[in-house]
Amino acid sequence: MTNSQLYSTIFKRKSIRKYDLTPLDTKTLAEIKEYSKHLTPVNKDIKYQLSFLNADDVKNLFPIKAPHYVCIHSEKKDGYLLNAGFLLQQMDLYFSVNNLGSCWLGMAKPTKEIPDVNNMEFVIMIAFGRTPENVHRSSVSEFKRKSLADITNVTGMDDILETIRIAPSATNSQPWYICGSAEELIVCRESLNFIKAPILGKNNQIDIGIALYHLYLALDHNNKKVAFDLQKQPAPKGYEFMIKVKVN
Ligand SMILES: Cc1cc2nc3c(=O)[nH]c(=O)nc-3n(C[C@H](O)[C@H](O)[C@H](O)COP(=O)(O)O)c2cc1C
Repeated sequence: MTNSQLYSTIFKRKSIRKYDLTPLDTKTLAEIKEYSKHLTPVNKDIKYQLSFLNADDVKNLFPIKAPHYVCIHSEKKDGYLLNAGFLLQQMDLYFSVNNLGSCWLGMAKPTKEIPDVNNMEFVIMIAFGRTPENVHRSSVSEFKRKSLADITNVTGMDDILETIRIAPSATNSQPWYICGSAEELIVCRESLNFIKAPILGKNNQIDIGIALYHLYLALDHNNKKVAFDLQKQPAPKGYEFMIKVKVN
C-alpha cells in the first residue's frame, strides 16, 4: 500500500452502512492485520493497541452490522484522541483502496474483554467488510461539506486543504478550522458549549485526527516535509488549538 493510493482514495471514499455478513477470507484478513501493524502515529509516545472483532463481539446503538470491526484502545495521554483518529483513518482509507466498505462507529462498544489492553481506554471502532453497495463516490461534488472559505483563511494551498474539507467526521459536523500560514498551519477545532461538550467532545477530537491524516497525505503528495508541534498557540474566537503543522 502506498501513500499515493491512500491519497487518491480521499477523493472518493464514503461511509458504508450495509454489509455482506460473510466473513472475509483468511488471506485478506491477514493482509489487513499486517498493514495495521505499520501505522504512523502523531505521537509515538502514546501507547495504543488495535484489535479485530467479529459481529458478535460488538454492541452498537445504530443498526449497522458488519462482519468485522477494528477497534483502538489507547493510553490516556495528552492528544490521545487526535492520535487515535489519525491512526484509524489509515485503516479507513486502506479499506476503501481495497474496495471494502467501512464506517466509523462513535456509539459502538466491544461486548467482550479484549486481551492485553491493560489499563488502556477503549476509544472508537470502524466497521468493515464487503458490501453490495458501491464503495466509492463518483465525484467530489457528492461530498456534502462546508466550503473551503468556511474552514480556513489560509490561501495558496487550496488543493492541499481540500483534503481536510472532504474528511469524514462524526455526524458530519466538520469541526475543523485551519489558520496560520502555508509554512505553519494551525489546526483548530470548534469549541463546544457545556451541553454539547460531554456528548460530542470526544468524537470532535478524533475528527481532527482524521482530518490531520488527510492533510499529512496531501503534503506528502506535494513532496513537503511535515513536523507536528503540540505546543499551545492562540486560536481564533470560537475555536481551540489542536496542533501546529510545520511544512517545508
Ligand atoms: C468519529 C466518527 C464517528 C462516527 N460515528 C458514526 C455512527 O455511530 N454511525 C454512523 O452511521 N456513522 C458514523 N460516522 C460516519 C459519519 O456520519 C460520516 O463520516 C459523515 O456523515 C460523512 O459522510 P462520509 O463518511 O460518507 O463522507 C462517524 C464518523 C466519525 C468520523
